[in-house]
Amino acid sequence: MEFIVKSGTPEKQRSSCIVAGVFESRKLSTVAHQIDAVSGGAISSILRRGDLEGKPGQSLLLHNIPNLPSERVLLIGCGKEKEFNENHYRDATAKAVSILKDTGATEATSYLTELDVKGRDISWKVRQAVEVTEAALYRFDQLKSKPDNSRRALRRVVLAVPKRSDLGPGERAIHEGQAIADGMKLARDLGNLPGNLCTPAYLADQATEIGKQYGLKITVLEKDDMQKLGMGALLSVARGSRQPPKLIVLEYDGGKEGEPPVALVGKGLTFDAGGISIKPAANMDEMKYDMCGGASVLGAVKAAAELKLPLNIVGIIPSSENLPDGDANKPGDIVTSMSGQTVEVLNTDAEGRLILSDALTYAERYKPAVVIDIATLTGACVIALGAHASGLLANNDQLAREILGAGKYTHDRAWQLPLWDEYQKQLDSNFADMANIGGREAGTITGACFLARYAKNFKWAHLDIAGTAWKTGKEKGATGRPVPLLVQFLINRARHDGAEAAA
Ligand code: BES
Ligand code: MN
Ligand code: ZN
Repeated sequence: MEFIVKSGTPEKQRSSCIVAGVFESRKLSTVAHQIDAVSGGAISSILRRGDLEGKPGQSLLLHNIPNLPSERVLLIGCGKEKEFNENHYRDATAKAVSILKDTGATEATSYLTELDVKGRDISWKVRQAVEVTEAALYRFDQLKSKPDNSRRALRRVVLAVPKRSDLGPGERAIHEGQAIADGMKLARDLGNLPGNLCTPAYLADQATEIGKQYGLKITVLEKDDMQKLGMGALLSVARGSRQPPKLIVLEYDGGKEGEPPVALVGKGLTFDAGGISIKPAANMDEMKYDMCGGASVLGAVKAAAELKLPLNIVGIIPSSENLPDGDANKPGDIVTSMSGQTVEVLNTDAEGRLILSDALTYAERYKPAVVIDIATLTGACVIALGAHASGLLANNDQLAREILGAGKYTHDRAWQLPLWDEYQKQLDSNFADMANIGGREAGTITGACFLARYAKNFKWAHLDIAGTAWKTGKEKGATGRPVPLLVQFLINRARHDGAEAAA
């Protein structure tokens, strides 16, 4: 999709469709009012007939409005003007796109960007418009034998900005929004690909592709390399699978030479059947999404490279399958991680923390400024926070605040849970340094507590994206989260040199 910003009133635009907001009850937005005025009251007389109250979710497509050079006008219900907030803005934008894509309009000019959203400036609105539009147009039909060829006419979206001085910031916002949207699309595509196609080797190939495209250094550690490094935890998970494990490393050097990088570590379980502690059959297909943390690292690094952020970044993706097999981990097995710490594998389904532990130890060699791991780690996180917030745990409060701020700004939010020492004893083992599970209580926290034991040598945060990385049910599919949060975090770091991000 092509996006551009323009400033100017609707009576001068020659567009296939002008998009304008209407508030409750039948209160015209500034631009709807302007259209009404040039058309001799056409809009208000239609609304008086009762076709559009202005409630959220409502819309009305009009043709041949008198004295208007544009072919169509799409009115979008925006709810009560005083209550119009970020959610309403995003929903109104998504609604407009869902109508537009079923019209013949090849282009549209949206004035929703001119609506007042409490506390948000034009850059935010343009960015969100780009991201929401791309997300609403996303489909995954590459594996249908007859892809849905129904018309997809919309090719260009013009985003209206109130003043000429908004054009510069608007263009920059489009650039950022487009990079984030592309990163999300990559993460969604990889997530939606099934386990038989999206294997650890496939993820490594994707990283190599991105590396070629942006001139990144890509290293893929093979099983032999892992053995040499003593990655006994990661290797123990892979033993049950016929797909060789990979540890994928991407290095983006946009910053000063020698400047400590931001390390992003993403769980890349391309299928998690649970191993010998096998999962129930219902919805097990969704465990193809267990590599979404890794996919979000690929998406975020790609976006950072696209935006040429002045920052050094290293992406690390430990990737494996977790399957039952004669050679798989067994409950009670004790493995030695690269750090030297031993782990009693009481549940083979708590495999994410095993592969991440070695990846975190591996991250130490980059002397990172901060490390963020991203993982679909615990079902408990879905119970605690549902689908709206990713779980956040950190050993550094400043880092946690930066992440929360980035999530808030991009509407890709996280919520912090405590990482108190008191929880650590749930991981006590009679036979090894620790167990890989901590009982039913506080499952997300004990998962993070396990990882924290491998993150003692740097500032570290953990994002549990089990509830946010994909949607279940009728709209099943990857969301591309938390790519927006991660990219914003990187943008803020690049801008403020690591200083605290504006919330
Ligand atoms: N990938 C799963 C976590 C998961 C489960 C995410 C369901 C989303 C939905 C992870 O590997 C896992 O199986 N975790 C276990 C941990 C438990 C054994 C301590 C879980 O959450 O049940
Ligand atoms: Mn598991
Ligand atoms: Zn898993």
